[in-house]
Amino acid sequence: MSAIQAFIFDLDGVITDTAEYHFRAWKQLADEENLLFTREDNEQLRGLSRRDSLIVLLKGKTVPEETMLAWMERKNNYYRAFLHNLTPQDLLPGVGRFLQEARSAGLRLGLGSASKNAAEVLQGLGIRDLFDAVGDGYAVSKAKPAPDLFIWVAGRMDVLPPACVVFEDAEAGVTAALAAGMYCVGLGPQSRVGAAHLCHPSLEAVPVSNVLNALSKLPPPARHPVIDSAPNPS
Ligand code: BG6
Ligand code: MG
Repeated sequence: MSAIQAFIFDLDGVITDTAEYHFRAWKQLADEENLLFTREDNEQLRGLSRRDSLIVLLKGKTVPEETMLAWMERKNNYYRAFLHNLTPQDLLPGVGRFLQEARSAGLRLGLGSASKNAAEVLQGLGIRDLFDAVGDGYAVSKAKPAPDLFIWVAGRMDVLPPACVVFEDAEAGVTAALAAGMYCVGLGPQSRVGAAHLCHPSLEAVPVSNVLNALSKLPPPARHPVIDSAPNPS
């Protein structure tokens, strides 16, 4: 029997490609406020909370807290306009099959997303009922790269961290999973997720049994240092 009992999935960029919608929403705000923001800049925002994303976007410029709040809200309104169109067709290739296979293998399934819109995204995708625990941007105050969210989700599923595998597309998410003492499967280029235990371009051609076999040959995950993030109260 495998020692692994649960899979924890990031949402944006792993289950569905909302990363593009986040980009367009930040770009609209940046253009309106005359801030320079490119697709390259956007890569640094992958996996970061809304507040940490705005801090990166500001590139060292400081603005009053009330402006921060107003800009985060405006970006969120632009982003949420895209969510109305989400349907099960927006699952990334292979994800529906992978989730079903994992459930059939008896694994518990958790979601660990920095997003405060995760519930609505899951609803649109039609997969809310597949998850035993959903951790979103409201679950903990310290967002990725801090490990708190993944540990919270594991706790809700009653599974210890070394029995969990996190699926992540963001460097901050891989760092968080390793700091939580969990296995991590990175989805995307080595340059971004190469620190994970295993890397795949996506879940499209990956059977659950391959992941379990590959990880069973590795030693138990060691806990990596914790890197803090800004508290994310709003
Ligand atoms: C993460 C995304 O899942 O959620 C980030 O990768 C995003 O780009 C973060 O900033 C927070 O999302 P939201 O929906 O709360 O603004
Ligand atoms: Mg992501």
